[in-house]
Amino acid sequence: MSPSNPNVQNFGRFPNKEPELIELAPSILSADFAHLADQVRAASDGGGTVIHVDVMDGHFVPNITIGPPVVKSLRKATDLPLDCHLMIENPDQYIADFAQAGADWISVHQEACRHLDRTLHLIRSHDALAGVVINPATPVESLSEVLDIVDYVLVMSVNPGFGGQKFIPGALHKIRRLVEIRAQRKLKYRIEIDGGVSLDTVAEIVRAGAEILVAGNAVFGQGDPKTNAEKLLKAAGEAILQKA
Ligand code: DX5
Ligand code: ZN
Repeated sequence: MSPSNPNVQNFGRFPNKEPELIELAPSILSADFAHLADQVRAASDGGGTVIHVDVMDGHFVPNITIGPPVVKSLRKATDLPLDCHLMIENPDQYIADFAQAGADWISVHQEACRHLDRTLHLIRSHDALAGVVINPATPVESLSEVLDIVDYVLVMSVNPGFGGQKFIPGALHKIRRLVEIRAQRKLKYRIEIDGGVSLDTVAEIVRAGAEILVAGNAVFGQGDPKTNAEKLLKAAGEAILQKA
């Protein structure tokens, strides 16, 4: 994308000077954990540029996944940024551990944070990019007081806890609203979407304005992760051209 393209945003603290408009963040939740490094490499070869790591505690969401030791191993397996999505209660207690393990981006749920402003500053104090996540039932307006201190907003388009669920279309108006607010308030956060991103839904998602596409099942569910990632990015790119 050329810098003169009006769709290209200045993305604040993100390290890329000229970021790609659309990035694919393969979610390892649906990967084969016995071959994680190979799976991550395949998704990266297919164009994935961020590795999405779903952390679940069995309390905030009804499932248990992984913690800092796996992030530490992944850190050795890839140079791509590790995007740690914390679906846990009391995230403050673990943020330092994830940052030390090698998390580059850390996001926390608005619904899990009693002192959201403090938690976001805590993430930034560890030199990680700070993201805030909203569940399908949580309105964008609940974030109005923190949008100026986040690097990205993650809109859940499924109820968190499991991969392979159906996309909830209500997420689209939240993305559009976040695009509007960013322009009105001259803010710099990026917009990420998570849940049910597939070849069937990706076009409307990028047309709404999402820039970082998390995809688990669509990349790792079946077939070759490299080919799957390529197809998703191709569909996203075509949808953006239609939008322009
Ligand atoms: C769900 C997780 C997602 C999950 C998405 O709670 O946050 O990141 O991996 O999976 P898909 O892409 O299969 O909907
Ligand atoms: Zn996630």
